[in-house]
Formats: sequence, structure tokens, C-alpha cells
Amino acid sequence: MRAISLLALIVALGLLVACATPTPTPVPAPTQAPTVAPKPTDTAAPKPPTQAPTAAPKPTDTVAPTKAPSVCGTTESVTITYVGDPAGAHPTAEAAAIERFKKLCPNITVKRISGSASGQELLAMYSTAFEAKSADLDVIRVDVIWPGLLADHLLDMTKYVPKEQLDSYIPSLLQNNTVKGKLVALPLRIGFGMLYYRTDLLKKYNFAAPPKTWEELEKMAKTIQDGERAAGKKDFWGFVWQGSAYEGLTCDALEWQVSNGGGEIVKPDGTIEVNNKATIAALERAAKWVGTISPPGVTGYQEEDARAVWHAGNAAFMRNWPFAYAPSVTSEAIGGKFDVAPLPAGASGKGASVLGGWHIGVSRYSKHPEAAAAFAVFVTNAENQKMYSIATTSPPAILALYSDPDIKKAMPFASPDIVKITTPRPSTPTGAKYNQVSTLYFTAVHSVLTGKESADVAVQKLELDLKKLLGK
Ligand code: GLC
Repeated sequence: MRAISLLALIVALGLLVACATPTPTPVPAPTQAPTVAPKPTDTAAPKPPTQAPTAAPKPTDTVAPTKAPSVCGTTESVTITYVGDPAGAHPTAEAAAIERFKKLCPNITVKRISGSASGQELLAMYSTAFEAKSADLDVIRVDVIWPGLLADHLLDMTKYVPKEQLDSYIPSLLQNNTVKGKLVALPLRIGFGMLYYRTDLLKKYNFAAPPKTWEELEKMAKTIQDGERAAGKKDFWGFVWQGSAYEGLTCDALEWQVSNGGGEIVKPDGTIEVNNKATIAALERAAKWVGTISPPGVTGYQEEDARAVWHAGNAAFMRNWPFAYAPSVTSEAIGGKFDVAPLPAGASGKGASVLGGWHIGVSRYSKHPEAAAAFAVFVTNAENQKMYSIATTSPPAILALYSDPDIKKAMPFASPDIVKITTPRPSTPTGAKYNQVSTLYFTAVHSVLTGKESADVAVQKLELDLKKLLGK
């Protein structure tokens, strides 16, 4: 529990004093994650009253006049689709939210379809539908890095969301989701990279605390792995993470790069930062993990693959997002035997944690925009976010919920300050090109992890490719 309270303390302190902590913490990124974000209402079109404006007035002879139109947006019977999240406890939590919405709006049926766990595959699915102006997708999950990419295909949510609810979201998330004055998605949850570790095994092998540096992690992982294998656990590994060629690898590798002092792929001013000694060293180090302290198959792992090994009790350490916490608590093999800590530091002396998270947007091509918007507003309201985040251990996007005792109990590591001390991916400076930037980056990293290319050649080529793409 020590590391949990330590992490909670770190993030809480961050509210008052940015990063004045004695242990490695995620690298602050003040230039990219402004602490005081302008409210989108400053730039957005004037807002009509708080509720969905298009519901037909009800006959006044049977129903007392209501102060606001229906929160359901429509009185017609309609079916809308929602693209759900397949990872962790999200499917169950989403089904529960849909059920609650059905009670409130019995005329709206929400059909949940499961979207791919891979960012690139999900984005491809959206792009195909949007290019065809298809009405098949109504409400979609929008990754924190996608507002710039998807803005043209999403409705401006400003006129649908009650003012009080709008003001409740973490301001920098609203800013992230506001593209050319349009609020393209409503904030639902935040994520950040963190280190999961086995408390029982640290104790068994006489380690007093989780690793503060990558070197410490390597040594501890090796010792525990050797010991566990000698004791008969042949499938035991030291460290599992996300090494497949997809968005998740961009997150993991950016953490290695930043923690080693290698810069941040593309800086807010557009400078490309990959071709340097610190990044090369960080990638070389990670490549050495493959087949030594990490399974050879890690280069095909996404979040849920890493979690499966960890969940079964076959890993000492895991890099993952907060959503992996809930199922770990209930795992028969590791429940009560794990804790979380900040990711280790590299040569920079500080650990880094990439900002993740998901938001809710409505397709411009929806045939039922009012019903779809009503669902999006419902899903992201405080009451729903509370239930959803407790069930999923994905930290909420509403500021006030962080002082809620039930949230604190379910997620002792959560703090809204995470947004300020995490490293954002370069989606703001690269906008509509972000997915290409990320694809170039994770492809280069993957070629190093799989031994196809040396780290120095890979980053040289990557720099050239990024320059070409970004017109530098
Ligand atoms: C998590 C994060 C998301 C990120 C993805 C990468 O879902 O919340 O932001 O893009 O992982 O796999």
C-alpha cells in the first residue's frame, strides 16, 4: 500500500506544488498541458438553453408544461449505435450505463457494438464509415489524441450539454476536445501509464520498494523471474508491456524516450525530437528486454495481452493503464498481492507517463442526432461517470469526482492532476496527421524491438520520414 499512498500523495501535492516530490514522477509537460485552459465557451458558438433543443413540445392538456424539453432529445422511438470498449471491465460498465439510460429514455434503444482494442483498427473503422457518410455509427468513443483527426465528422456538442455539466469537466480536456471552436467530444475518462508490481514477490525476494529506475526494474525483474522459474513456474516473466505495432507502443516508447531525456517526438512548436542519443539508448534498452525479462511474444502484445499474463500471476511487473486495476483486484491469482507506482526513471532522472483517455462524440451522419447527443450527455454526466469509473477504475473526467470518497476508495491512485504531470502525445501540433506520425513512430520502434533495425538507423530514418510528412 505504501506506493499507492505515495502516488496519491505525489499527485495531490502536484495540485499545490508542481512536482516537488522525493521520488520519480511523471515528467511535467507544462507547455503542452496548460493548467488553466480557456473554456470552450469563449470560442464556441453562442449556446442555447441547457437541454437538447429539438424535442417536440408535449401536448399540454395531458402533461404539465415542463421547464425544459426532454433530456432524451426526442420522443420518437429510435435505435442508435454506440461503439464500445472491449477492454477490462468496460463492456459490463457500458452495458450497465445503457440500461440506466433505457430507464430514463425508454423510447431510445442503444445498440452497443464492440470497437477494436487497437487504436489504428478502430480509427480505420471510423474512417471507412465517415468517408461513406454512413449513418451506421451514432455515438463513438474518441481517443484523447483524435479530436483533431475526427473533428470534421463529429457534431458540436456545445448546444446539447447543460452548462453545469460542461463546467464540471476538467478544463484542459475540454480544451483538448475543442477544435476550431467546436466541442467535438464530451470527456469521459483519463488514463496514464503506470507500473503494476507484485507486493508479495518483492517481499519474497527482499526488495523494500518498487523500482525507481529502469536499471532497478531490470535487476528486480531478473531476480524474481529466475527465482520463480527455479521454483517451477516455467511461464513466469519479469516485465510485461505493450510491444505490438499499434498506438499502445507509441505510448510505451514515448515513456521510455521521455524518461531517458530524449524529447517528445514532435514538440508543441513542431520541432522533431527523435534522432538523439538518449532516444537511441532508451530503445536499445527496451529491445534487450525482449526474450530476457519480457516474453519474446511481447512484440505482439496489446494492453489485454499484457494483462492476461499479469492476471494469471505470471509477471512481476506490468506497464498498463488504470483500467487494469479493477480486474487485478478481483483476480484469484494476484488479488491483494499487487500495488501500483509511477513508471521508473531513465537518464533524465524522472519517470514519464503518457496521457491517455477516451471521450464521447456523435457522428455528423447520424440519423438521430438528438437521441445520440442525449446518450452522450447522459454517459458523461457526473452520476454516470461516478458509477462507470468505480466499475472500470478508469479515472473520471469530472473534477469534483476526485474528492468523492467512493472514487478515492476504488482508485487510490487517481487525481485530476495527472493531466498536468503526464506527457501528451503530439496530437495537438500534428492535428490531422497525428495517426501518420504515430504509425511512423511505432513502426520504427517495433523494427528495433524485433531486431530488424538498429536503434540509430531506425531513428535516423524516422526523423527523415517525419520531416517529409510534416513538411520540415
Ligand atoms: C488506452 C488509452 C488511449 C491510448 C490507448 C493505446 O486506451 O486510454 O489513450 O491511445 O490505450 O493503446
